[in-house]
Amino acid sequence: MHPSNAQLADPDIEARVDRLLIQMTLEEKIGQLVQYNDTGDSPAAAAPAPEVQPDTKKPDAMAVVNPVASNHVDAMQLAATGRLGSMLNTIGAERTDTYQHLAVDQSRLHIPLLFGADVIHGFRTIYPVPLGLAASFDPDLVVTLSHMAGEEASTAGIRWFYSPMVDISRDPRWGRSTEGAGEDPYLGAAMAKAYIHGYQGDDLSKPGNVAASVKHFAAYGAAEAGREYNTTDMSEITLRQVYLPLYKAAVDAGAATIMSAFNSLNGVPASANPFLLSKVLRREWGFNGFVVSDYTAVMELMNHGIALDAAAATRKAITAGVDVDMMAHFYDTQLPSLISSGQVPMEVVDEAVRRVLRVKFATGLFERPYAEGIEVKAAVDAHRPLVRKAAEESFVLLQNDKLTDGAPLLPLSPARTKIALIGPLADNAAEMVGAWSGAHNDSDVITLRQALADHAQKTGGALVYAKGTEIDGSSQAGFAEAIDAAQAADVVILALGESSSMSGEAGSRAHLDLPGNQQQLLEAVAATGKPVVLLIFSGRPLVLDGAAQHVAAIMEVWFPGTEAGNAITNVLFGDVSPSGKLPMSFPRAVGQEPLYYNQLPTGRPPTGIDLSKPPGDGTRFFSRYIDVPNSALFPFGHGLSYSSFGYSNVKVSKTSIPIGQVLADRITPLVEATATVSNTGDRTATEVVQCYVRNLGASIEQPVRSLKGFQRITLAPGQSKQVSFHLGFRELSFFNLEAKPTIEATHYTVWIGGSSLADQEANFDVLLPSAIAGVH
Ligand code: BGC
Repeated sequence: MHPSNAQLADPDIEARVDRLLIQMTLEEKIGQLVQYNDTGDSPAAAAPAPEVQPDTKKPDAMAVVNPVASNHVDAMQLAATGRLGSMLNTIGAERTDTYQHLAVDQSRLHIPLLFGADVIHGFRTIYPVPLGLAASFDPDLVVTLSHMAGEEASTAGIRWFYSPMVDISRDPRWGRSTEGAGEDPYLGAAMAKAYIHGYQGDDLSKPGNVAASVKHFAAYGAAEAGREYNTTDMSEITLRQVYLPLYKAAVDAGAATIMSAFNSLNGVPASANPFLLSKVLRREWGFNGFVVSDYTAVMELMNHGIALDAAAATRKAITAGVDVDMMAHFYDTQLPSLISSGQVPMEVVDEAVRRVLRVKFATGLFERPYAEGIEVKAAVDAHRPLVRKAAEESFVLLQNDKLTDGAPLLPLSPARTKIALIGPLADNAAEMVGAWSGAHNDSDVITLRQALADHAQKTGGALVYAKGTEIDGSSQAGFAEAIDAAQAADVVILALGESSSMSGEAGSRAHLDLPGNQQQLLEAVAATGKPVVLLIFSGRPLVLDGAAQHVAAIMEVWFPGTEAGNAITNVLFGDVSPSGKLPMSFPRAVGQEPLYYNQLPTGRPPTGIDLSKPPGDGTRFFSRYIDVPNSALFPFGHGLSYSSFGYSNVKVSKTSIPIGQVLADRITPLVEATATVSNTGDRTATEVVQCYVRNLGASIEQPVRSLKGFQRITLAPGQSKQVSFHLGFRELSFFNLEAKPTIEATHYTVWIGGSSLADQEANFDVLLPSAIAGVH
């Protein structure tokens, strides 16, 4: 058991919870289950429940509740009277301490408040959005960064992060793709674990450590058509094999809390879903922290149509396993009568309160309730090198064509001294940080223009800047200046992409191309004939087919954070070689979505057919489009380097394994897969070596390949290294028809390479005893 998981099962903590629980009035207990934001200035007393109680005989008349119009409560009064358990997004030590003093000094039992915030990629010093960070394939880096964020935020009294978001996202139309690790369960689980270790450390009560809230449980990322808050519908096998492993990894790592999602899953809203919250999370996984609803999600059960009134929504949520009501204003108003009428058993409330208190004790809040140390109010200089490194590791070099001189455009040759920097994201501090950017100050952010200007000054180069257009504009008024700048330069750096608010919550897009008239600007600039490096700032994969035809180099830089400009400059000039790999497939057309590499096979795979051509005789009746190839433009795992890497000698340690051995031991690795990786280029560089597996012949279709291991290795020119991956039950098992993990007597192929298109393979079989004895 992970130490922070053990803390939530500590008998001393349970004894303290018992002693406190027994003294609590019903009102105080319910108070622990209520969470509000910072509305302490409000003169209004706690408001009554919203007017959403329809005539239960006429369900059609049910009112739809607007999540934005939440009720106003006097949180200060609630805190002072022990009727508030936690608060969200209360920023600043002065603010959190004010509330905390009310709770600790004035309330009868002095139970401290828990302050939570959406710190998902930094508090004051911002690192790349989580999707970008996932491109680093560097969980150790994630541990360090998350811990840094916890240290910064706890100086402001925040001890609970609504992070990590571990929702698998196979459809970039979903704006929240930016908040997670992308489309792959193996990478996502590694990242989930890293965030938990970084936030919580090995002892939740140590200063600087914060409790994590893993969100959004569950399968929120599978919202139909990528539309925010939309329905999710999937088989239990897919749920368990693709979506749940990330939450499970976080729980196993000791996550203290979980946030229930907005979406429904197979018809049952996640925030009133006993299968998810009780069966899977608590009974199967043994989770003993608490579950907080997403913002007003308890209220939204009425909009989902499964609760006719606030009372029913409350009853369904709490009995399913939602312990804390974030902002719905339902638990405090509805629970008293639900308990007195016996519709919600007192034990259910006691258990929910127990879980909340357990986390409060484990985090050391009773001993240290206030903001700690000197409050961090701006980006921390000592943290800049770390967030810069994170940004550098997150960049993915998608394309790097050779120019007429035979050399690829990147890294920029020192001979190209005159640079034209063009685009709406070239000098835009506010847009460098992406969604949920903590409590950062724009003035702390280094833009690309600032960093390139510094570089030009140091190296005697020349920099001309032209904005060209707005992020989402239609005016071409700035085009002429941009074209002039390009014409006078040796090379153009085009900084294009999305604004921060185009991804993140409620940031679904139906189009995935460059917004506004950026594509026209790109074509106008490229028409000058000058070599163009295209930098894409975005919170998701975009459709870059059109752009790729006009420029030599494309680098995806996501939203890099506080050190954006410096990190990009270091990579452009080759001080650092890019090493990021795509955590999500980049499509050719939005109509391909959802597009992900680990898809299931079909009965009509178009193997050997040139899909770039419209179907003709013999090429039509396959699983294909008639107007676009099936493949991604840039696939999962893809990412170029300034060096090059070769793969050889892909081998497995055994070509057959008896099934008895496989099923008897679920811990020890069964096969070792190895490969020789060589740096075949002329500079030291880092490669993310990836190991993929396919399982053929099982009782359930298995993906065409699945990532089952990765390693970052750094090699000098000409250097080779043997890498190995250990494959055991965890990597080789799958969920059967009973939704149980198993291995059958089947054939496995293993690929090791630098992307999901790796083509060097080795094979082995899991065999039945009869096959081993030679009886067929
Ligand atoms: C989001 C959550 C977030 C919460 C609190 C919700 O709208 O879905 O991800 O943690 O608000 O800000």
